[in-house]
Amino acid sequence: MQYKAQVNEAIKILGNILEVKKPADRIISFYFKQHRFIGSKDKAIISSLVYAVLRNRATLEFYLNKFKMGLTARKLVIAYLAIHEHKKLPEMTKIFDGDMYAARNLKGTELDLIRDHKNIDPLEMSKAEKLNFPEWLTADLEEAFGDNLATEMMALNQQATTTIRVNMLKTTRAKLKADLKDEDIKTKKTKISPFGLTIEGKNNLFASQCFKKGYFEVQDEGSQILSILANTKPKQKVLDMCCGAGGKLLAMAATMEHKGSLIGTDVNEKRLFETKKRLKRAGISNAMLKVISSENDKYLKRQADRFDTIFVDAPCSGTGTWRRNPDSKWNLESEFVEQLTVTQASILKSASNLVKSGGTIAYATCSVLRKENHDQVEKFLSEHENFELVDISEIYPDLTSEKVLQMSPAKHKCDGFFIALLKRK
Ligand SMILES: C[S@@+](CC[C@H](N)C(=O)[O-])C[C@H]1O[C@@H](n2cnc3c(N)ncnc32)[C@H](O)[C@@H]1O
Repeated sequence: MQYKAQVNEAIKILGNILEVKKPADRIISFYFKQHRFIGSKDKAIISSLVYAVLRNRATLEFYLNKFKMGLTARKLVIAYLAIHEHKKLPEMTKIFDGDMYAARNLKGTELDLIRDHKNIDPLEMSKAEKLNFPEWLTADLEEAFGDNLATEMMALNQQATTTIRVNMLKTTRAKLKADLKDEDIKTKKTKISPFGLTIEGKNNLFASQCFKKGYFEVQDEGSQILSILANTKPKQKVLDMCCGAGGKLLAMAATMEHKGSLIGTDVNEKRLFETKKRLKRAGISNAMLKVISSENDKYLKRQADRFDTIFVDAPCSGTGTWRRNPDSKWNLESEFVEQLTVTQASILKSASNLVKSGGTIAYATCSVLRKENHDQVEKFLSEHENFELVDISEIYPDLTSEKVLQMSPAKHKCDGFFIALLKRK
């Protein structure tokens, strides 16, 4: 496929993303399923252009406004190619030449932008436009990162590395590293997680024999660290209250050596179905899954004072995962975040009745916003005097100087996960 055709396909996909507001990865994979003639190398170039535009959308919109252009997929792509890829008018004219597979010819303000964008002073951009985050989150992100805002936001706007968690129930890190090498997949050991390998280059991991045999799961190093901090052990009774597709449940199960029990609950049946498949592949037999109607489900109420560990991987804004889901930042709404904080507090309250004395609630999010993290924990502690914070800086002094742990791509080279360990006295 010629480059001009790849650009044209990227515009069509981006158009769908702007229109339906569903996760970009789902829209992209649906589009490719419907357009089977697009080869794998073309797919990679098309998706990377789509993601690059999504990552830089606020900056691009700033330029579109300056040239009085409306917001469309085509105009975003034109602005991206001109501003970020420094393509000049002659080259752009060839890409947009209007032939059968290419996008239609450039005209009007599109030509003005390509020719004159260098005359615009970038200092006119707001912080949100320059650093590519939603304007309404400025105060929250400044509160979260202070003087490091620019560094952190730039790191959150980079493509994430792919990390896997070795399934220690079936293999070891050294053996898996060697087995993957035999399949031409090169890896590096992660620095913090003792179970992690970072993948070098791009590979179809899910097609590998090692994956099919359940030797690993794709999991960000930050997420692995959360599971390690939950400190689950053989013979314990563990509840993963917001189990979702089971990333943390699987990691905790691997520490329990098939002894003790794990229960994974979630309000989303589809996600639990995914967990079921993953448990089977990983060879885990001591976990059961249960769909619940809410955090106040009768099933949970019957489990009072029962659990050694409750993992609350709360529904959250996902602001810590913008490296992977840059589209999600543009769909986030402030009312939704406020609603989430109410749900998070309610889930924590319910968990407080289920954990036994001496047991721990691991409260986690993949958010960098204090209102979902530090503030939530402070509120919980002020309302539950029978709980205290376990000081994570004593466990991981290199990772945090606070009692809680807030990770970030700039500081920890992983997603922006948060965790607090709340121990019932
Ligand atoms: C961050 S995701 C969990 C990710 C998962 N733990 C993992 O590691 O793959 C949050 C989950 O909370 C679930 N959820 C939302 N509201 C809930 C509630 N009231 N009670 C329990 N789970 C809830 C969502 O369906 C979603 O699967």
